Amino acid sequence: MAQTDLSVELGQRRRPRQRGWSFERYQRLREEAAADPLRFWERQAMQLSWYRRWERVLDDSQAPFYRWFVGAKTNIVANALDRHLGTATQNTLALIWEGENGELRTFSYFALHREVCQFANVLKSMGVRRGDRVTIYLPRIPELPIAMLACAKIGAVHSVVYGGFSVEALHGRLEDSASRVLVTADGGYMRGKVVPLKEIADEAVARAGTVEHLVVVRRTRQEVHMEPGRDFYYDDLMVLPVTRGADGGCETEVMDAEDPLFLLYTSGTTGKPKAIVHTHGGYQVGVATTLQLCFDLRPEDRWWCAADPGWITGHSYIVYAPLILGATSVMYEGAPTYPYPDRWWRIAEKYGVTILYTAPTAIRSLMRFGDAWVTRHDLSRLRLLGSVGEPINPEAWRWYYEVVGGGRCPIIDTWWQTETGMFMIAPVPSSPLKPGSATLPLPGVTAQVVDEEGRPVPPGEEGKLVLTSPWPAMLRGLYRDPERYRQQYWSRYPGWYLTGDSARVDEDGYFWIIGRTDDVIKVSGYRLGTAEIESALVSHPAVSEAAAIGVPHEVKGHAIRCYVLLRAGVAASPELAHELADHVAREVGPIARPEVVEIVASLPKTRSGKIMRRVLKARALGQPEGDTSTLEE
Ligand code: PRX
Repeated sequence: MAQTDLSVELGQRRRPRQRGWSFERYQRLREEAAADPLRFWERQAMQLSWYRRWERVLDDSQAPFYRWFVGAKTNIVANALDRHLGTATQNTLALIWEGENGELRTFSYFALHREVCQFANVLKSMGVRRGDRVTIYLPRIPELPIAMLACAKIGAVHSVVYGGFSVEALHGRLEDSASRVLVTADGGYMRGKVVPLKEIADEAVARAGTVEHLVVVRRTRQEVHMEPGRDFYYDDLMVLPVTRGADGGCETEVMDAEDPLFLLYTSGTTGKPKAIVHTHGGYQVGVATTLQLCFDLRPEDRWWCAADPGWITGHSYIVYAPLILGATSVMYEGAPTYPYPDRWWRIAEKYGVTILYTAPTAIRSLMRFGDAWVTRHDLSRLRLLGSVGEPINPEAWRWYYEVVGGGRCPIIDTWWQTETGMFMIAPVPSSPLKPGSATLPLPGVTAQVVDEEGRPVPPGEEGKLVLTSPWPAMLRGLYRDPERYRQQYWSRYPGWYLTGDSARVDEDGYFWIIGRTDDVIKVSGYRLGTAEIESALVSHPAVSEAAAIGVPHEVKGHAIRCYVLLRAGVAASPELAHELADHVAREVGPIARPEVVEIVASLPKTRSGKIMRRVLKARALGQPEGDTSTLEE
């Protein structure tokens, strides 16, 4: 098989020796953790600071409503910022930020802490209290992590909405979380153009009706509407005396380990995206442990997770875990190809990036421009590369390894989800690699690939990927919907967490992720629900019914293809199809824009009226349609 050949050729033969743990020692750690996972996680937790120790590591008496570090008091900000103060780390750079226009801003741990305290005091002065939700809708600028940390510090729950989402997506999330404060910006830069975030925010706020205040970061300095008494500029607020707080700083709220830290909406099987809930205690243990294990972060490293903080990857591995570990992160605002396709490599060279963590779709899109854009830069400081979000195909793996990594840097392919909060299946730097495989479950994590009855499938066969024991950074539920949480993740195989992915395990026990088995489409690594796109389409006056499917795409992994039935009396035209694609982009966001909108006379449905997307997909790909006995027409 091509992938196995590659693994011998690239993954093993030329694998350079890694510092730190040998693979044999790491395997022993995995075995020890398997024998006593709670002991393993407890030992990890002991490396963090807590206001009060736990009485029990895990309470599984109400499963699947698991509780970790029961009785402990903590706050993730105490570990991410407070504990670095007064140590050498306070003078270390926490963040090196480059704007798309070349602007540079840096924050030491001391400076970041100060800014976070000030903004926390601003939020308090707006009446934000422990447990309140605050929505953050910002471009990729330092104020994004600052706002997140400020919320966490005072015990408020942040809900970050990705800056590439649009009106309806933001409206739904504001309303569902009942946020009273929205932190946004006058605009953001992307490919040299201004994204009118404030305009989108105004429209979403008008639809939602829960928001009392908007804090607006000046990024583009363009003229925007500011509602008197409701909207305030961030920098105007940050010079007010109130930012100094009562004692010149801002007390970190003492939280229960199980108190919510954030909501993060993600696409699932129904029209409304659901909010995944993560908490302070177990989450901090999970993300810090896994970042340290998989990327072996050291003080001399420059860590660059090129994701957006608006996704779980950014929450866990741009904001929280690197700060807990006292690392120096690089963050870049804009497009990888602006103004030229070497922007990323220029940044990596300029700041001496040692570890780059990104998604296969980004690698594929940059690969198209050829090697010269990469090789003209000195990337000799790179020592590890990471991948996340979808399976990495052999061509992209080879290019990433050879051209970007110069054949020196192991590729750490991390499998995980918004729900898992942390890496679950991934190598460590000394692991023997097989390109396209995320290798083995991490210590304290148990995964299996099973058939319909829950029996492990033989090596090489496809099955459903399940996680068979709880882990500390696991989601604690879906916001205000315990039943759906139980139903969606824990009902298919009682006691096991259903990932929604299919996978296979090879003879060496290595996991190979194949893809989603549900109605989730991964477009450029972004997770979109078919239902979300369909509900945007039917909100257009011309449309009566719609179906969305994902079809393979060379760069994006998958692209969206839609089929629509028009309302009686509406005439089909190419212009209308185009307008419908625009409509989806406007309602959900540019990332959700369908590649093709096809106007059809009928849709394949079951007798009970459910659209059979499987049949549409088979037709689109020219494959056999399978069992169509339940098909109505
Ligand atoms: O299908 C898997 C895919 O991304 C899904 C989770 O998406 P999301 O919640 O948006 O989180 C993405 C970032 C953690 C998974 O169910 N996926 C994620 N990582 C990998 C992957 N597929 C293959 N290999 C990976 N390394």
